[in-house]
Amino acid sequence: MEKWMDLSGKVMIVTGGSQGIGEHVVKTLRNNGAAVVVADLRNNETFEKDENIFFVECNVADKKSVDSMMEQVIKKYGKIDGLLNNAGVSRPRLLVDFYGKRPEYELSEEDFDFMVNVNQKGVFLCSQAAARYMIKQKSGVIVNMSSEAGMQGSKGQSCYSGTKGAVLSYTMSWAKELGPYNIRVVGVAPSINERTPMNNDAAFEALAYTRGQDKNNVSSDYEKVIPMGRPGKLDEIADLICYLMSDRASYISGTTVNISGAKSTR
Ligand SMILES: NC(=O)c1ccc[n+]([C@@H]2O[C@H](COP(=O)([O-])OP(=O)(O)OC[C@H]3O[C@@H](n4cnc5c(N)ncnc54)[C@H](O)[C@@H]3O)[C@@H](O)[C@H]2O)c1
Repeated sequence: MEKWMDLSGKVMIVTGGSQGIGEHVVKTLRNNGAAVVVADLRNNETFEKDENIFFVECNVADKKSVDSMMEQVIKKYGKIDGLLNNAGVSRPRLLVDFYGKRPEYELSEEDFDFMVNVNQKGVFLCSQAAARYMIKQKSGVIVNMSSEAGMQGSKGQSCYSGTKGAVLSYTMSWAKELGPYNIRVVGVAPSINERTPMNNDAAFEALAYTRGQDKNNVSSDYEKVIPMGRPGKLDEIADLICYLMSDRASYISGTTVNISGAKSTR
């Protein structure tokens, strides 16, 4: 992976950095010179021997765990330049199982709490803990991972979409609160991408059911609705985030950037 930006001396935290989009962001930030903290429930073994990557076991939905992670970062590096709130979970669910065949794919209270806790409360807890330090520093950037689903809604993903819509609003509000302290808050909204573990076979099966589709046709249907004719690459998302976390994006705040190959709604 080529170096295209100078992030040397920067300390960047990536929640959920062990796999999927987060893993690509960690590698991109690291290859451009940053020290990267991976805050995740589990480590990625390819990061273990890399002295520029610091793994801290962290559950973003748990305040004690988040506060402890931030303390460890400050103890090791003395500052936090950037936080990417990337950790997220999804369970495709219908509000009501009107097909009447798979009650497990109807949104339960437990599903709701699980998604809201990680996607929404986790973003709040991590942002609050990081902002306390960033306010003292009078500098920093928080990037929140939203989704096109959070802007447009998504059949079979109402709860997930709701959490991502909330994230979009946090971005705008926190940017207004933290701007005077020279802290930027920006969102990123990917759409349909190369598969990650989040989009595993079980998730595809659930999503296909909620949409009344054959599970083998979901992804080809997706490709028809993307004007650029292909899913997004994880490195394309990582490059956007790397730029937004850098000082090159020094006047971008309070907005969410859609990265979707021109797909809007379906
Ligand atoms: N994959 C996509 O196409 C897509 C599209 C739009 C938005 N997003 C968003 O991008 C982010 C990353 O998605 P992904 O597809 O790479 O997901 P993924 O499931 O592949 O990876 C998520 C990572 O988050 C970690 N994680 C989960 N719960 C956690 C918790 N409580 N505390 C700490 N870490 C936790 C997991 O261990 C994992 O490493 C998510 O917020 C997702 O909603 C993804």
